[in-house]
Amino acid sequence: MNTYQDKFIIIGGNSLNGCINVQTSKNSILPILAGCVLCDKQVVIKKVPKLLDIDNMFKILQGIGVKIVEGDDECIIDSSNICSNTLNQDLCKTLRSSIFLLGALLARTRQAVISYPGGCDIGNRPIDLHLTGLEELGVKILKRHSLIYCDAKDMHSGTVQLDFPSVGATENLMMASVFLNGVTILNNVAKEPEIVDLQNFLNSMGCKISGAGTSQITIEGVNNLHSTQYTPISDRIVEGTLMIATAITGGNVVLKNANYKNNESLIAKLSSVGCQIDVKSDIINITSKGRPQSIDLIDTQVYPGFPTDLQAQMMALQSVSDGVSIICENVFENRYKHAKELNKMGANIILRDRVAVIKGVDELTGAPVDAYDLRGGAGLVLAGLKAKGYTTVNNIYHIDRGYDHFENILSELGADIKRI
Ligand code: EPZ
Repeated sequence: MNTYQDKFIIIGGNSLNGCINVQTSKNSILPILAGCVLCDKQVVIKKVPKLLDIDNMFKILQGIGVKIVEGDDECIIDSSNICSNTLNQDLCKTLRSSIFLLGALLARTRQAVISYPGGCDIGNRPIDLHLTGLEELGVKILKRHSLIYCDAKDMHSGTVQLDFPSVGATENLMMASVFLNGVTILNNVAKEPEIVDLQNFLNSMGCKISGAGTSQITIEGVNNLHSTQYTPISDRIVEGTLMIATAITGGNVVLKNANYKNNESLIAKLSSVGCQIDVKSDIINITSKGRPQSIDLIDTQVYPGFPTDLQAQMMALQSVSDGVSIICENVFENRYKHAKELNKMGANIILRDRVAVIKGVDELTGAPVDAYDLRGGAGLVLAGLKAKGYTTVNNIYHIDRGYDHFENILSELGADIKRI
């Protein structure tokens, strides 16, 4: 899937109406794919969406000997023969989740050579919490230029206190600990739904992990794992993006395979701007009429606070609200690149460090804009759905990293959007 030259052309003004199935979660599947390396038997992951990040994760896994068979609705992962513990440097630079492989590889082979991961350019994104956590479990780490050499032959169970509830560090340390003799305790861990999903996946292979979704996770070491078939949770960020898209264009959209419990913070905000949101088991029905009201303050936080991954999409919505809104981005230090692009469309956004002040305007005007990262790109698409006239969104490979044919989903709901 090489979409580096692709663009979206959007003609704004259509409302969104209809019913759509929410894809399974990219941020669940990526650590789960890393977790497959722990098991020397075949593992089946169902409902895998076609995403650039997943394609690249497949290539990294194949580079160390993992066999992958991709079907229409599932993929078979066979890690019976791991032939290398050195991850492909160039591929690691394409995605953040390459770092998740470190813990699984150390658990399986006790050695690993990795490079610093890539991913969205939304901040410095260090991996100090990952590495110090592993060192507390006895891993010896040597950093040489752009490579990190890890020796885990003396790795042991223990207790790790995370300075910050990092999603990736939590996932990495969970996977590193599964074969350690005794009990490993991780404190001040991330509580995102994707952490719970990873725990459920690992336990379905025979791991003994508990506490995911709380601030403490306990991993009791086991000797080996068995195969499993697993369906990851729905993607709460794609779900939230489609809800905000409906809020910005107006209309009535039903989301199936949804999980409203994972989006309670967003649902509260969208209700406060005037949306009608009805939820029942795995269905979310959102109706939006008229101009959205402004929101005094959105503070992005770790889960269950307002998700940083929906910040850009909410900024697009607030750009056309009936007042002044404030966003404070507390999780990443450089996640406002989309603001400049929205201002090219006639938005009125002022940035000061981590604070964005958004003065709602009556109308956005279509313009050529550039996506700089996955969720910022999605925010620009949402603005284009509302703007008067044509919007061209460039560099949409960023969007393809996390949305499975985003243009098809939006067209099905009535948007006028084409990939060229
Ligand atoms: C995961 O990234 C997600 N990616 C991100 O989604 C998401 O925005 C983020 O969690 C927060 O929810 C995947 O799951 C693949 P963190 P991750 O470690 O694990 C700092 C998307 O759009 N930090 O919780 O990298 C870090 O700099 C992507 O789908 C350290 O300082 O997030 C950041 O400020 C974007 N040292 C904060 O913690 C570390 O060792 C949160 O990072 C690790 C992190």
